[in-house]
Amino acid sequence: MRAQAGAEHHPDLRAALEHLLSAGGKRVRPTIVFLVGRMFGSPHEKLVTLGAAVEMLHTATLVHDDLIDGSLLRRGIPTLNARWSPAATVLTGDFLFGRAAKLAAEADYLPLMKLFAETLTVIVNGELTQMFASKGLIDRKNYYNRIYAKTASLFEMSALAATMVGTEDESIRTAMKTYGYEIGMAFQIMDDILDFNGDQAAVGKPIGADLLNGLVTLPAIDYAERHPDDPEVKLLLEGGWGNTERMEKLVKSIQGSKAIRHAMDEAVEHVDKALAAIAPFPPSIEKESLEALAHYIVDRTF
Ligand code: IPE
Ligand code: IPE
Ligand code: MG
Ligand code: MG
Repeated sequence: MRAQAGAEHHPDLRAALEHLLSAGGKRVRPTIVFLVGRMFGSPHEKLVTLGAAVEMLHTATLVHDDLIDGSLLRRGIPTLNARWSPAATVLTGDFLFGRAAKLAAEADYLPLMKLFAETLTVIVNGELTQMFASKGLIDRKNYYNRIYAKTASLFEMSALAATMVGTEDESIRTAMKTYGYEIGMAFQIMDDILDFNGDQAAVGKPIGADLLNGLVTLPAIDYAERHPDDPEVKLLLEGGWGNTERMEKLVKSIQGSKAIRHAMDEAVEHVDKALAAIAPFPPSIEKESLEALAHYIVDRTF
């Protein structure tokens, strides 16, 4: 991926890309690409470009997301927007989008380009929906739509694209698409849980930030449904999410409640569906790793 920074580019851009790539990240999406692709004999070179394209697209969305959310910490280090102007941050994100598209095109398969472009529109539409949705909104259906758009869609694409370059069998493509979708949903639910009970040093981003920013996620929705008379829940419903002190109190109430366990149960249900989707395939080292990956999604601490 570093080769994408290229010597011909602006030195500040190069420095920014170095900064981003040195921070690492879990590389979950390229891992899906490789394991799924190898399971169905997809050519290695195509999986390399596809894996890089997916990770680049993911990184680009994070650069823009942190600017939108005003997040100053990611992967344990300051975000680009913490150091640079919004304009420079937007342009760096755009550069990464361009590079991601170029890599995806290198797979030389038009349906894949189409899928790639469609997924990007779904993600952007999801971010816009989240941005314009009224803050403090407590609505399960809206939550599921939102996490599909911003996260599960890219997991779904990673699994489907890696399958597409290996086989035209529609039933296999559908099964792997389902696998990606389900672990993607589990992944975002887990991300939302970690925002409540994670260890900040491990997670690498501030804890409790979602609710303090008016973003109501599954643990908060579950808590609100079961404690409608909690004064802080009432305040949230009345649009009082901007009251930091009382929202911090609500964060503590949620942390100490069964809501975390309930959200976890939902994440595990998605993992079970992912496992069911790949169950019919014959045993292989890749399948075993995909099963382990599905379990890791809910066992992770960062
Ligand atoms: C962060 O994704 C954004 C979400 C979809 C929750 P990751 O948790 O995969 O981020 P990195 O790449 O490992 O930092
Ligand atoms: C980011 O979602 C996912 C994107 C696709 C941009 P979040 O805003 O929940 O992710 P974090 O918590 O900042 O990593
Ligand atoms: Mg964010
Ligand atoms: Mg989050």
